[in-house]
Amino acid sequence: MSTILLAVETSCDETSAAILQDHGTVLAHVIASQAATHAAYGGVVPEVASRSHLEALPSVIGGALQSAGLRADEIDAFAATTSPGLAPALLIGASVAKGLALGANRPFLAMNHLEGHLLSPFFGLAEPPAHTAMIVSGGHTLLFDVTGFGRYELLGRTLDDAAGEAFDKVAKLLGLGYPGGAEIDRLARTGDASRFDFPRGMQASPDLNFSFSGLKTAVRVFLERGFEEKDLPDICASFQESVVDVLVSKLRRAAKQKGRTIATLSGGVSSNGRLQARAKERLEREGIELRLAGPELRTDNALMIAYAASLHLAQGLVSSPTADIRPDFDPVLLCR
Ligand code: KG4
Ligand code: ZN
Repeated sequence: MSTILLAVETSCDETSAAILQDHGTVLAHVIASQAATHAAYGGVVPEVASRSHLEALPSVIGGALQSAGLRADEIDAFAATTSPGLAPALLIGASVAKGLALGANRPFLAMNHLEGHLLSPFFGLAEPPAHTAMIVSGGHTLLFDVTGFGRYELLGRTLDDAAGEAFDKVAKLLGLGYPGGAEIDRLARTGDASRFDFPRGMQASPDLNFSFSGLKTAVRVFLERGFEEKDLPDICASFQESVVDVLVSKLRRAAKQKGRTIATLSGGVSSNGRLQARAKERLEREGIELRLAGPELRTDNALMIAYAASLHLAQGLVSSPTADIRPDFDPVLLCR
């Protein structure tokens, strides 16, 4: 039997709703970004995010229903991201989705944002294959071994800054605005990555953890000595190469250790051109296939939440309508 699911994502600064039929038929997907609002503050302000979600949700959900040509009572289940994320932001999306579920007398699914990113490269499949998964976003850098839906082993994580956070902090130091990951990617395309030698934190350590705060400090100290506008592409390329080197070598090592033939990159930083090219080249040499999520599934979005929810729903894993938010959810808890 076919099922139609509506998911809401409000964990950070994107207000998004998606309507998904089964695991892969997209009936609607709406994303309203608040990035411009937060850019003025140089980062996401939780209370501003929460007020903006409240303002945007009626038209985001209404717009999704309208473009799918459906009424709320024609939806079979409602999902929302309830962990991890900014507490006041999570509360808005979760409360609205629970209200819709109660009003339509349908099940509610409390979803994990990280599982949304993790599964996004397999959008449409009824079961993800065994693989090594790397989530690289503004808030997380995580490495998992996955043997199927719900079977996740946490292999490594960042001990300080996330990869996207490092991009954003360095972009801020360079005066490139917020969030600046995509701008560094763009400038680096014409730069010489071998010109400046920045540290590769924990690349040689035997574990699969990451550290990017030393790299950020090294770039800051370097910039304090003064730099010229014309050096920007080389600085961006050299910084980016340090991040990419560490990510790719640990992704490759994790896949080899577990004997996996598929590896994924998900989250906002997986849009980085150099990361994609280097990962593809290094992995293919070892007979490992790289899978990425489609562009609209990389940064925060409700469609990846709807897809993860569709896998939960297929197994009857619905939540209590009183399920609480868990803003500080530790990714190790995903590993049951
Ligand atoms: O997954 P996401 O939307 O949010 C979180 O869940 O955190 O990721 C946003 C992050 C930001 O840090 C942004 O700078 C980064 O992804 N990002 C990029 C690129 N596009 C987005 N970083 C490097 N290169 C890119 N092309
Ligand atoms: Zn995210």
